[in-house]
Amino acid sequence: MQSIPQHVAIIMDGNGRWASRRGLPRTAGHRRGAKAVRRIVEFAAQHQVRELTLFAFSSDNWQRPLGETTVLMALLQQYLCQEIRTCLEQGIALEVIGRRDRLGRSLGEAIDRCEGATAAGERMRLRIAVDYSSRQSIAHLMMQCAASPSARQVLPSSPPHRRHRLSDQLASVVHAKRPIGDVDLLIRSGGERRLSDFLLLECAYAELYFTDVLWPDFTAQNFATALDAFGLRNRRFGGLSEASVTGQDPQVRHAR
Ligand code: FPP
Repeated sequence: MQSIPQHVAIIMDGNGRWASRRGLPRTAGHRRGAKAVRRIVEFAAQHQVRELTLFAFSSDNWQRPLGETTVLMALLQQYLCQEIRTCLEQGIALEVIGRRDRLGRSLGEAIDRCEGATAAGERMRLRIAVDYSSRQSIAHLMMQCAASPSARQVLPSSPPHRRHRLSDQLASVVHAKRPIGDVDLLIRSGGERRLSDFLLLECAYAELYFTDVLWPDFTAQNFATALDAFGLRNRRFGGLSEASVTGQDPQVRHAR
C-alpha cells in the first residue's frame, strides 16, 4: 500500500496571478482560492491525512494593500463560519495558528467559536495559519526561555524528550491547541520554490513538492499526484535506507 503522509502542509500560492491572467482583481483570485481550500480539505480527510496545515496569511502579508488584507480576513471569517458543519460531519478539528492580537474582534470570535465547536474531531486536524511567522514564533520562544527558568526546560538532556517539549512550547506560542507534528509533505503551488517562513522547524525532514499549478486551479487530482510523488520518496532521516544496509541499493553498488 502506498504510504500516506501523516502531516501535509500547503503554501497556497498563485491566487494573484490566477486573477491577473484573467483581467480580474487579485481578490477574485483569493475567492477562487477559498474554493480550492474546500476541495483539498475534503480530499485530505478522505485519504487518511491526519494533519493538514494551510498557510493562509503570513505576518509579512500585512505589507499588502489594505483592500487585499481586508478581503482575505473576510474570506477567512466566512470560511470559519460556513465550514463548522462540514467539519463536524467529517470529524475535522479546525484550529487557527499564528498571532491573534492583530486580528479583528469578529474574526477572533469566529475562530473561538469554530475551534470550540469542532474540538472533538478525531479524523483530521486542520490548521489554518493566519498572521503566522515561523521565525517570529521561534524568536518569541527563545525570549521566553531567556526570561524564565521554567521555560528553559524546553532544553533538557535527552533528544526525543527535548523535541517533544520544544513542540509543546512552540504550540503555545502560536496558539495551537496541540503540538504541531513534523511535516511529512510540504506542497507549494504557484511555481516558486521556497518556504517563505512557514513551519521552518516542523519541516526539518519534510519532503518538498513544488508545482506550477496556481492555487485556484489546484484540484483533488493535483493533490493525489503530490501524494503519489511522496510515496516514491526514500526517507532516511539522516540514517541509511534498508537497501543500502543489505547491499541492495544500486547507488551504493555503483560507488564501490
Ligand atoms: C498567496 O497567493 C496566497 C495568499 C497570500 C492567500 C491565501 C488565501 C486563500 C487561499 C483564500 C483564503 C483562505 C482560506 C483558508 C479560506 P498570492 O496572492 O501571493 O499570489 P501571487 O503570487 O500570484 O501574487
